[in-house]
Amino acid sequence: MTTRAGVADPPASVPGLVIRAIRPDDAAALQAFHHRLSADTRNRFFGPHPHLPDEEARRFTSLAAGQQALVATFDGQIVGVGRYIRLGTGDAAEVAFVVQDGYQGHGIGTELLTLLARLGWDDGIRRFVADTYADNRAMLDVFMRTPSAATVMKTRRDASAIHLTMAVTPPGAVLTWFGDDL
Ligand SMILES: CC(C)(COP(=O)(O)OP(=O)(O)OC[C@H]1O[C@@H](n2cnc3c(N)ncnc32)[C@H](O)[C@@H]1OP(=O)(O)O)[C@@H](O)C(=O)NCCC(=O)NCCS
Repeated sequence: MTTRAGVADPPASVPGLVIRAIRPDDAAALQAFHHRLSADTRNRFFGPHPHLPDEEARRFTSLAAGQQALVATFDGQIVGVGRYIRLGTGDAAEVAFVVQDGYQGHGIGTELLTLLARLGWDDGIRRFVADTYADNRAMLDVFMRTPSAATVMKTRRDASAIHLTMAVTPPGAVLTWFGDDL
């Protein structure tokens, strides 16, 4: 488990990985991370920008109220990011994740979701919402297979996208998804 400024235990499959809160001095490292991503991975999270402008990197790494972002680092380099942004003044927040191509499939996305859910719960966030492409198996699997962090309550298909609403799981509880598989 981690704290706002703390460091989490890494997934056992990636020894040496550190997960911590993003910091303003991560801006250059975030730009380097953005640059290392494949175009497909980059576009799914950052949108179609070949470069991450200084101003955007600064904004991304300086969290406003209602925002939280974690970075997964390996050897001092960012290899994954997970963030939520509270929607208005309610108890819902939008979540999104990106893991560097060579590091995908090792549990980092799952770990980031788990830790964000804990931080969100402590911040009064009770629902996560996310939009993902319907063909994004990895992202859908992370959401569907991590009920210890968040439980998918509702899905809406909209052309090529799926909009998910998840209940943030209270620490220590596990809920179960009884709907159809996505
Ligand atoms: C979606 C994304 C963030 C998921 O992150 P990830 O670190 O690859 O996710 P995880 O490793 O936790 O889980 C994904 C897969 O790895 C598997 N996995 C989980 N823990 C694992 C472990 N310890 N060892 C090996 N595999 C593991 C999961 O079961 C899942 O397997 P599947 O491919 O058979 O479905 C990542 O693939 C990504 O960055 N994609 C591009 C950007 C993107 O689409 N972002 C979403 C925008 S909404």
